[in-house]
Amino acid sequence: MDYESAYPTIGQLAQQPNAAQAIVNYLHDHFASYSWVGLYWVEGSDLVLGEWNGPEATEHTRIAIGTGVCGAAAASGRTEIVGDVSRDSRYLACFSSTKSEIVVPIFADGSVIGEIDIDASALNAFGAEDQRFLERVAAVLAGVRTSTSTARAARR
Ligand code: SME
Repeated sequence: MDYESAYPTIGQLAQQPNAAQAIVNYLHDHFASYSWVGLYWVEGSDLVLGEWNGPEATEHTRIAIGTGVCGAAAASGRTEIVGDVSRDSRYLACFSSTKSEIVVPIFADGSVIGEIDIDASALNAFGAEDQRFLERVAAVLAGVRTSTSTARAARR
């Protein structure tokens, strides 16, 4: 799947009910190296696992900001690309098959509200193109998340 043709589809999926899950499913199903795709959402000082798609559930359903590769990206607000997880001391292991990982923060109003976490079973699966593409997807997910929480607040 090429990034430029995927992006408009992601924009369309963002209009659907359960948009965040639909986007996660799309990334998982259309990018061969994206073995496990999950979204973590900030709750206080933690990241809490939300929508995900992959062969296995992860035991890391709550990660303190600052812990692991996920927590590092949330703390710094910067995308993390780990080409070889076995050589990164921050890495929290989820799946024995994972060799590389990318974590992309999701921002709203200048703050990190969540992140996209993708695991791959090949070394060095993620590069600058994945980063650029997934940072655009993160901006779409920010819109999805803030519109659903606004809708939720309005119903209260
Ligand atoms: N590897 C991540 C934890 C999340 S699992 O990959 C799904 C980390 O180091 O933060």
